Amino acid sequence: MKIIEAIDYKTMCKMAADYIITKVCENPRLKLGLATGGTPLGIYNTLIADHKKNGTSYQWVTTFNLDEYVGLTGDDPSSYRHYMNHNLFNQIDIPLSQTNIPHGDVQDLEQECIRYENLISEHRGIDLQILGIGNNGHIGFNEPGTSFNSKTHVVELTSSTREANSRFFNSVEEVPTRAITMGIGTIMKSREILLLVSGESKSNALHALLNGKVDESFPASVLKTHPKVTVFADKEAVACLKVFR
Ligand code: GLP
Repeated sequence: MKIIEAIDYKTMCKMAADYIITKVCENPRLKLGLATGGTPLGIYNTLIADHKKNGTSYQWVTTFNLDEYVGLTGDDPSSYRHYMNHNLFNQIDIPLSQTNIPHGDVQDLEQECIRYENLISEHRGIDLQILGIGNNGHIGFNEPGTSFNSKTHVVELTSSTREANSRFFNSVEEVPTRAITMGIGTIMKSREILLLVSGESKSNALHALLNGKVDESFPASVLKTHPKVTVFADKEAVACLKVFR
């Protein structure tokens, strides 16, 4: 696992965005795995600015998002589909038909998980997966205790995750209790992974990742067993490491 420290959040996003842009230029048919939450927003803004200024094209790129809340339709402002359309897809030239996010509003959730897992396989897997990290080490919505071999599945969200994500809703009660997420096994099949860690609130998670053992109680620890992971961390996230060092 390679660690890249950035002086601040903006620089971290620029470095990660430049990396993605290079990959898209090298392979215009890149299969790109995307994340939601607050952390990737700066990256998406940088990709949009670059698309407008330099014309980097996403016309042939296919995307797969990590997760979606159960019970929200794609036009619900709190859904991850809405987040992605609003914060990235509608501002670059990617056809929406090439953007994939689990459907959280279907009757048969188990079937949807199988469909999504198969869809990724049919595209011969993800070339580059972007990940954020939850305070408890979750990746996607894979909460502590999730099997490292898991495929796309339905999860019960922990109260700490619902609390952390309540800022995107009117109240914590409105945060859905379940989500569909790529499994840890699904994520690990990606050929390359970028993990973004920003802010003081994530410094404990970064410390646990770098210094803890590989264990299902801390989902992100599995990344230490992947051959090609780069961690982009900003100064605030790294601060606590300096204290521990
Ligand atoms: C959610 C998403 C994760 C994301 C995490 C951290 O739980 N499902 O994919 O990594 O939030 O989000 P943030 O970047 O807002 O801290």
